[in-house]
Amino acid sequence: MAIPAQLGDRRVAPSILSADFARLGSQLRELLAAGARMVHVDVMDGHFVEPITMGPIVVSALRQLADEYGALLDVHLMIERPERQIAEFARAGADVISIHQEATPHVNYALAHIRAAGCAAGLAFNPATPIAALGEIHDLLDVVLCMTVNPGWGGQQFIDGSVERVQRIRDSVPDEVVIEVDGGIDTDTAGPCARAGAGVFVAGSAIFSEPDPVAAYVAIAEAAGAS
Ligand code: DX5
Ligand code: ZN
Repeated sequence: MAIPAQLGDRRVAPSILSADFARLGSQLRELLAAGARMVHVDVMDGHFVEPITMGPIVVSALRQLADEYGALLDVHLMIERPERQIAEFARAGADVISIHQEATPHVNYALAHIRAAGCAAGLAFNPATPIAALGEIHDLLDVVLCMTVNPGWGGQQFIDGSVERVQRIRDSVPDEVVIEVDGGIDTDTAGPCARAGAGVFVAGSAIFSEPDPVAAYVAIAEAAGAS
């Protein structure tokens, strides 16, 4: 499948994990109207990570709103054996699906399955996971999701050393593979990640926990040099 054109642009992707779920549609519409073109959906199963969050039903609920603005739905699967759920998330309307390297022995199969389902394929790495596996599968990848906190919770502090890790990932994959940073991204950390080669900047609490989420989104986008 063709990689969605928007994936090539430098983008801040609001993570709805930190949104007010009673007002999810209206909060998201404000950010889309302000220019957001990627919406990050954190799926957690209570096994791979402790919390349980949302599933395909939330992705399908957001599909129409995303389409109104030409935005991508970026689904981050923090679940065991993600290959078993890919078809369901693709059917629900995901544009990008990222699985975790640590969550399955079948990374090659899962990435191929994501592309075959018509989505862009992402591989996520926890902070302590060696990135050497990238050499084996970079031709199956559209996105590398570099966790810059431990997965499972919003509002954590950016882990020192992550910028250097982004740089090493950048040096390990072809230019067309997008590097996404996730966790602790704000106006201080977005710029250094951008200079190290990141193209997508996931931000949850730095947007939704602020009194003015739109102003916070715009400030992070400026810091990242994102459109
Ligand atoms: C954490 C999730 C993140 C989370 C980031 O496991 O993958 O997407 O929403 O939250 P912040 O931006 O608050 O660190
Ligand atoms: Zn995430």
